[in-house]
Amino acid sequence: MKSFSNSKIQRQENEKKEEQFWIQCSTPRWTKCAVFDLPHVVASLQGNPTVTAIAGDMFEFVPLADAVILKACNWIFHDWNDEDCVRILQNCKKAIPPKEEGGKVIIIEMVMKLENEEDGSIHDETTETQLLLDVQMMAPVPGKERSEAEWKSIFIAAGFSGYSFSSILGLRSIIQIFY
Ligand SMILES: C[S@@+](CC[C@H](N)C(=O)[O-])C[C@H]1O[C@@H](n2cnc3c(N)ncnc32)[C@H](O)[C@@H]1O
Repeated sequence: MKSFSNSKIQRQENEKKEEQFWIQCSTPRWTKCAVFDLPHVVASLQGNPTVTAIAGDMFEFVPLADAVILKACNWIFHDWNDEDCVRILQNCKKAIPPKEEGGKVIIIEMVMKLENEEDGSIHDETTETQLLLDVQMMAPVPGKERSEAEWKSIFIAAGFSGYSFSSILGLRSIIQIFY
């Protein structure tokens, strides 16, 4: 068991490490990050030395970047219908270089798997989740949850040629798309 003084020393060491981490984060060798949101949202943000805030409308443009990450606390595209998803992704495509130069769009979203891959039976719980979320989305906005096939047709319509899906936590996946 650790004595009180040992744990105090450990805490001080951790605090020092954390301080070092934040100093390193603000040096130029780290990846430069920017958050992009509507003007009234950006206007309310407080200054942050590590992240730049850019104001704009993603239906008009997306700022140039090596990679665009689209994520919300949980989901982002499920608020939008297919046509709007295509418009947003077309602007993302204009913002990034091609795959050979490292360009990609990373999306964190649900990918519905209604059928069991082994025997083709229906996942009852997944179906229930999708129906519940679809109703929740349909009430305030024209969005929905999507299967892998539905996602692919949106990516193709937006002009992307490659994609990968990695399931990270249940139905939530990291989707990477490139052209
Ligand atoms: C669910 S929140 C996600 C916020 C953030 N990405 C996160 O991970 O916490 C969706 C965000 O999209 C922003 N948003 C909505 N419409 C937008 C648009 N047309 N252009 C840019 N941002 C928009 C909203 O202001 C809101 O901050």
